[in-house]
Amino acid sequence: MNLPQQVFLRDAMRTLNLTRESLSQRIGCTKRALDTWLLPDESGEFRAMPEMARRFISEILAASASGGPASAQATPAATTTTSIPTAFGRLSHLLSVDQFSRDTAERLFMLADVMQPIARRRKVSRVLEGAVLANLFFEASTRTRLSFASAFMRLGGSVSDTTGFTYSSMAKGESIADTSRTVSGYADVIVVRHPEQGSVAQFAAATHVPLINGGDGAGEHPTQALIDLYTVQREFSRLGKLVDGAHIVITGDLKYGRTAHSLIKLLSLYRHMRFTLVSPPSLEMPSEIVELIAARGHIVTPTDSLAHALPDADVIYTTRIQRERLTGEKIDDFLAAFEINKKAIDQHCRPDVIVMHPLPRDSRPGAHDLHTDLDGDARLAIFRQTDNGVPVRMAIFATLLGVEGLIQRSLRDALWAVPATLGPNDFPVDDLDLPSGR
Ligand code: NCD
Repeated sequence: MNLPQQVFLRDAMRTLNLTRESLSQRIGCTKRALDTWLLPDESGEFRAMPEMARRFISEILAASASGGPASAQATPAATTTTSIPTAFGRLSHLLSVDQFSRDTAERLFMLADVMQPIARRRKVSRVLEGAVLANLFFEASTRTRLSFASAFMRLGGSVSDTTGFTYSSMAKGESIADTSRTVSGYADVIVVRHPEQGSVAQFAAATHVPLINGGDGAGEHPTQALIDLYTVQREFSRLGKLVDGAHIVITGDLKYGRTAHSLIKLLSLYRHMRFTLVSPPSLEMPSEIVELIAARGHIVTPTDSLAHALPDADVIYTTRIQRERLTGEKIDDFLAAFEINKKAIDQHCRPDVIVMHPLPRDSRPGAHDLHTDLDGDARLAIFRQTDNGVPVRMAIFATLLGVEGLIQRSLRDALWAVPATLGPNDFPVDDLDLPSGR
């Protein structure tokens, strides 16, 4: 597959572990030139990358894959989609981030980059025409359910939903196994969210149709963690940083927050990470996860002091208190001290910090979740994070259903009008800090 130049370049930077600055130095062009090659085709400042540059980068990648002299700093990886090792294959399940290595996560991100023009509504594809997704959500959801649906439908498939127990036959006492086998007769892929940890694996055990964990109680939320890591990488690429060696502050409900559990495990696949875990004492990260991360050689510091954690953070990943899962923990007296707001960020953080949240944030008075006073601040990445849900989930579907190699040649132009930015506070996402007035 001849990858679009933006996908090729992003993949090369991930594979070689280089920033935009260091890649441009390596190939002897200006950073500004490289930036114009990375912009979306529709951008006024987009420029075609010279064939010689592609050939040179391909040679560096080939040398790096074979461990040759050009491989300094590199991790081994494939450079085309035909030889990609994936974390999950055709018709397998996606249940946990434990299925991923750094390499297989980054292979998926390359495919997500291929999906970007579809997610941005510039291109359409029908590779999943005729396929049906069953979205089984036995817990509240807006983002996860709708972004899975959007991803599937934008690849040409159709979606069938059930929401809550009340309107499903589980209210009549049907077992997980019977429900799972029944739905397998109707759908080509199944997404399940369920309030009990381990329940989604039970659904998976009863079907040969690929099944995706959309959140199992306080267990895992692997696709959210993939979206979060993809977002960190894209934000860092904009800021000229690498994930290796980053300082990640995770705050909020670390005991029951499944997105935090999955994300810290995924980030621990990188090198020399520093994690500061800020939570009320009763909502600390489960010790088995902390031990796993420490055993992988990373620095993990639990604390209940935000002021201690925030200076020199590269990412602040803040989470909602999972009130629906609390079992009598006393937390209300602590919450005000954990609020992430503009004052805390301005007072303690570096100017290039990024603030993330899996959302939803609890905006009710007294909740002390991520404050809205950061809205419109470029450091707040939460809606870039939600937008990334669509290309990453498209990449997951394409891989599970074995159409990942067909995307590129299936693309056609989208015919309808789309706004330049999706919300009043957005700045153009692919604005790679180019200086002129864009
Ligand atoms: C989270 C979830 O459901 O685990 N949201 C999400 O899927 N993006 C976080 C939460 O509910 O707090």
